[in-house]
Amino acid sequence: MKLAFFDTKPYDKPSFDRYAKAAGIKVKYFEAKLNEDTVELAKGHDAVCVFVNDTVNAAVIDRLVALGIRIVALRCAGFNNVDVKYAFGKVHVLRVPAYSPYAVAEHTMALLLTSIRRIHKAYIRTRDFNFSLVGMTGFDLHGKTVGVVGTGKIGRSFINICLGFGMQVLAYDKYPANDLAEREGVRYVTLDELFEKSDIISLHCPLTEETYHLIDNETIERCKRGVVILNTSRGALVDAEALLSGIKSRKIGAACLDVYEEEADLFFEDFSGHILEDDTLARLISMPNVIVTSHQAFLTEDALDNIAETTVENIVSFTEKGECPNEVCFRGGVAEDCKNGKCFG
Ligand code: NAI
Repeated sequence: MKLAFFDTKPYDKPSFDRYAKAAGIKVKYFEAKLNEDTVELAKGHDAVCVFVNDTVNAAVIDRLVALGIRIVALRCAGFNNVDVKYAFGKVHVLRVPAYSPYAVAEHTMALLLTSIRRIHKAYIRTRDFNFSLVGMTGFDLHGKTVGVVGTGKIGRSFINICLGFGMQVLAYDKYPANDLAEREGVRYVTLDELFEKSDIISLHCPLTEETYHLIDNETIERCKRGVVILNTSRGALVDAEALLSGIKSRKIGAACLDVYEEEADLFFEDFSGHILEDDTLARLISMPNVIVTSHQAFLTEDALDNIAETTVENIVSFTEKGECPNEVCFRGGVAEDCKNGKCFG
């Protein structure tokens, strides 16, 4: 089995080398992202391994099929960068449904605490021996209301952390979880109520047509003045222009973003010596109450190890048994995890 590994970063290699070697998989690492221009690099391989900002659209899928490649192994949970509808019956799309919800949930809380307690400002001040506290006033999380959109693995983990801080949780999910609804301190509400009553809103739902620009001018209008917006899910859940307007008008008190709608050509790369062309991102970053991290919420040693282990297991399962429980199935017109191991049509 030969695997073409796209969008490689130095931190990917140690864990993948370890698990792939044990499974007898030969990995060729490419720094390039997979897209229509780079797909030829996959020639001579049996499978491709891709990450969040690789592009697996119809043209790429057609070329992979022409190259005899039938396995697209995602080393992430989200698959909004894959045309799963088009892929159905052509290539098997395997993913890593859970590798460490704690990594993302903990990073979300780290961003929130950094922002509201001004840790990012304090770090810079004290390095300059400026020990003034002026402008550093924050607020307690205890007793505040957090609205959590999406109560799957990461949302649930974040809720647990928030409950530990003594916060009240308003939850919204398309498919509410009965056990969570019974937890003290958690209440499922409509999206409208969540927007109206939350001091902090954290997004943990997938990016779909339904959730695209969930946070826009209209929803921001319905929020409390001073609301803190957290997005560690997918960039396009938030209309970045609307977010910027909300920050300028002081309606939004703070925003913490690990993802950004136009991140594909920026995040994971060093642009420190360049002039940033994206004015919206540059303006957001210039704000004292906005914190941006570059899609690093997943990046813990534990998560990297789990990602490599499951990705390799997925490929082995497919090549040996012809099926994999982590295949994204489009049977029935809805993308979901394969239930019967026969997703290929
Ligand atoms: P999950 O599948 O366990 O949970 C997603 C939840 O969203 C489910 O409960 C589902 O019912 C709900 N949902 C679906 N459609 C919805 C809608 N229209 N409105 C409200 N809720 C809806 O997924 P998990 O593992 O919790 O991941 C959540 C998201 O986090 C992923 O979709 C991915 O985009 C993002 N993510 C970000 C990472 C990062 O490094 N920043 C790393 C891993 C995931």
